[in-house]
Amino acid sequence: GSGLNGKFVAKGKKFWGSAADSNTLNIASNANILKAEIGALTPENSMKWDSTESSRGSFNYGGSDALVNWATSNGKLVRGHTFVWHSQLPSWVSSIGDRTTLTTVIQNHINGLAGRYKGKIYGTLLLSINEMFNEDGAIRSSVFSNVFGGDSFVNVAFQAARAADPNAILYINDYNLDSNNAKLQGLVRLVNKVNGGGTRLIDGVGTQMHLQQGGTGGVAAAINALAATGLDVAVTELDIVGAQSNDYTAVVRACLNQPRCVSITSWGISDTNSWRASSSPLLWDTSYRPKAAYNAVISAL
Ligand code: XIL
Repeated sequence: GSGLNGKFVAKGKKFWGSAADSNTLNIASNANILKAEIGALTPENSMKWDSTESSRGSFNYGGSDALVNWATSNGKLVRGHTFVWHSQLPSWVSSIGDRTTLTTVIQNHINGLAGRYKGKIYGTLLLSINEMFNEDGAIRSSVFSNVFGGDSFVNVAFQAARAADPNAILYINDYNLDSNNAKLQGLVRLVNKVNGGGTRLIDGVGTQMHLQQGGTGGVAAAINALAATGLDVAVTELDIVGAQSNDYTAVVRACLNQPRCVSITSWGISDTNSWRASSSPLLWDTSYRPKAAYNAVISAL
C-alpha cells in the first residue's frame, strides 16, 4: 500500500487514523488527504457528551452520524471518542450528586451511543473512557470519582459498553503517558484490577501523545510498559510541537517495534485546523502540503 495507512497496514498494524468532524470533512483538500492517507476516523468533538446528550435523555447524533456516515462511505474504520470524560461534559451531569442516578445516567448514555452505531459501521467502533488519572497516578477528582467514591464507575461504564455492543473494542485513554511514569503505572494498576476479576472489560490502552518538541525520549519505554498489560496499545491523538521529523520517527519506530501497538491516530491533518494550531504540530502545513515530518514518517514506515 501507499500513504500512511497503506504502509502502516503493510507492517501488520490495524490503521493510521486521524481526528475529523464535519468542519474538516467539508474542506476538499482535507478530505482528499483523509481518503488517500488515512484508514480510520476519530470524531474530534461530535461524539462527546456535550454534543450527544446536552440535556438528559435527549440525544443528538447529527454531528457523529455525519462523521460515521462519511467513514462508512469511504471505507474507513471509526474509533469512538469518548463515553466517559470529565471535560466537555454538560453541567446537568456534573451536578448529579447520588450514585444511583449517576449509574443510570452513565448506562443510558453509553447504551445510546453504542446502540446507535452497533453494526452500522464498516469495521469496529472503539469506545473509550478518557483522562481519569492525575499525574501521580491517583484517580482524578471528577463527578464520576467523587460520586462513586473511587474508581468503580469504570466497571459500570465498561460493563454497559460491553453489554450494548459485545463486538466493540473498549479502551481506556489518557495523556502524558509518554514515559514509564507514575501516571502510566497508575493506569496499568487500574487496568489489571478491572480485568483481574476473570471477565475482561478493558481491551486496549490508548495513549494520546500530545507531545512537546524533543519529548519522545521515553515513548518506546512507555509503549512497552502499556503493552505489558497484555492488551492492545493505541496512539490515539498524536501531535508534536514543531512537528519535528526525528520526534515523529521515534513514535513510529516505538509502535513498529512493539507488536501490541496496533494503531496510530494523528489529531488532525493540517496545522491550520489543529487544536494546537499555533504550534504547527501536524504532518501537513496550513496549505495542506506534506511537511518534512510527513516524509520522515513515510521513510520510517
Ligand atoms: C480537543 C479538540 O481537538 C478541540 O477541538 C476541542 O475544543 C477540545 O478538545 N484530549 C482529548 C481530545 O481527548 O478530545 C481533545 O480534543 C484534546 C485533548
